[in-house]
Amino acid sequence: MLQGSISRISGPVVYAHQMRGSKLYDVVKVGDEELNGEIIRLDADEAVIQVYEDTSGLKVGEPVVSTESPLSVELGPGIISSIYDGIQRPLPLLMEKSGDFISRGIKLPGVDRKRQWVFTATASKGDPVVSGDVVGTVDEYHITHKIMVPPHISGTIDEIESGTYAVEDTVCVLDNGTNITLIQKWPVRIGRPYAQKLDPTLPLLTGQRVFDSIFPVTKGGTAMIPGGFGTGKTVSEQTLAKWADAQIVVYIGCGERGNEMTDVLTEFPALVDPRTKQPLIQRTIMIANTSNMPVAAREASIYTGITMAEYYRDMGYDVALMADSTSRWGEALREVSGRLEEMPGEEGYPAYLATRLAAFYERAGRVVCSGSDGRTGSITVVGAVSPPGGDFSEPITQNTLRIAGAFWALDTSLAYRRHFPAVNWITSYSLYIDSVQDWFEESIAHDWRELRDQTMFLLQKEVELQEIVQLVGPDALPEGEKAILEVTRMIREDFLQQSAFDEIDSYCPLEKQYWMLKAILTFNDATIEALSKGVALQQMLDLPVKTDIARMKEQKDVGTIERLIEKIYGSFQSLEAAK
Ligand SMILES: Nc1ncnc2c1ncn2[C@@H]1O[C@H](COP(=O)(O)OP(=O)(O)OP(=O)(O)O)[C@@H](O)[C@H]1O
Ligand SMILES: [Mg+2]
Repeated sequence: MLQGSISRISGPVVYAHQMRGSKLYDVVKVGDEELNGEIIRLDADEAVIQVYEDTSGLKVGEPVVSTESPLSVELGPGIISSIYDGIQRPLPLLMEKSGDFISRGIKLPGVDRKRQWVFTATASKGDPVVSGDVVGTVDEYHITHKIMVPPHISGTIDEIESGTYAVEDTVCVLDNGTNITLIQKWPVRIGRPYAQKLDPTLPLLTGQRVFDSIFPVTKGGTAMIPGGFGTGKTVSEQTLAKWADAQIVVYIGCGERGNEMTDVLTEFPALVDPRTKQPLIQRTIMIANTSNMPVAAREASIYTGITMAEYYRDMGYDVALMADSTSRWGEALREVSGRLEEMPGEEGYPAYLATRLAAFYERAGRVVCSGSDGRTGSITVVGAVSPPGGDFSEPITQNTLRIAGAFWALDTSLAYRRHFPAVNWITSYSLYIDSVQDWFEESIAHDWRELRDQTMFLLQKEVELQEIVQLVGPDALPEGEKAILEVTRMIREDFLQQSAFDEIDSYCPLEKQYWMLKAILTFNDATIEALSKGVALQQMLDLPVKTDIARMKEQKDVGTIERLIEKIYGSFQSLEAAK
């Protein structure tokens, strides 16, 4: 047993000597209470340890024992619907044991040891298997949980039997003596293996117009949502969790408000999956760090979360990982780094902030999974960022910006005007537009890209025109430019704005998105044409069909919106004929 003792304590960071022989990132038990910690630096016989629990009361000289294994999570049936802290301890159980402020040294397994699961074997005796092959399934709520041969293992099945098992029971034995159980372990700081990374050509559909139609993210892509206080980061993350076409959601909440753990334990589980009408938590793994929890656990939480996401990806599922907010994670990193007396970089963040962020986002992706059946799975990462004072020049925003493929910038002034989602259409962008174009044109319409680009062109034109209006007033604009302002108002109000709380509009199918945009741009084309024929703009603006456009959101029947195109042409023709 590798045992040393505490030589110094600095908040969440503990120094221990006589630790020669330990390895970097090994988990250690610190002090008489055996607090969980992880070695984050080694100098000769001194280990520097970040402790995942409150260190007050620890004393110099208390023992430090290495477990001689890295920080790992348990992966198996039962993690879906769980609410964990940053090191996979089930929060409801922790609370039961210790109340709102978690007492120290509590040991709880991440996966319930006693619960029984019905295992259905899908492989048979004599089958050769390699790592990633599915040997059987377990029903976990609506999810078919695939029991896979763990990474780096292969052989021929000697024994396998369907039945009812606890997670540690052996369900399958290989000829080389390997016992396969319903759980496996994986070190959180290392990405799980896969066969091949795929290009991001499929969109992750969210039912949110500004995302899907204007700034799409892909399955396996990355997106960031930076936004000042109250601009809608949490609502956006929760809306995506509800509606994105991913089977599994991993939700990492790094608390800013919600100091009370009780809030976390009641708020998310109350969300309903709008498709199944079942609790959303039945396809969600939640990791919660409230601000009264130790910072080091917050640092670990994003790795714990993405490792679980990788496990479900490996089964062949599309997983959406939401992190709200990565700024709180960055602050934890900064605090630990400060305690280590490292040379601070920008705004006190450590110099390795950028590489850590990149390493995390790089674990997103759409892949061909390990295993011989060639199934694919994906992890899409959407990280909220809360820059202090809404100032996007700060390090977390800037460093994430270099990595994320979609940039959904939330704007304080839009939120103030109650334009929701408060995504700024000028500063936001998506690097995936070219790669999803084929999919959209084949699945939705051949002119998808054209409509999208025309919309962006008009919105950019609006900015220019508004500058002129500010200088010389609206009357100075020619009719054609006044018409553009009218069309862009439609784009903003009748298309981009979408309430997350409206019964019909909270989810907008892609086809409906397309026809809505098409209708507005048809109005635009018809205006230009009519102006050229000498029709007065005011007459066009008085057309009743404008009301139909404003009501498209409430329309359940896509066909009605499609038919609106003819109606718009008809209305303009009668204006032209009347001239
Ligand atoms: N898509 C939306 N539809 C309707 N209302 C919205 C939407 N997004 C945000 N809001 C409104 O904005 C409020 C604040 O949103 P939210 O709590 O998500 O902001 P936040 O950026 O997470 O704030 P904080 O900085 O406090 O974490 C919501 O309570 C809601 O009223
Ligand atoms: Mg929030």
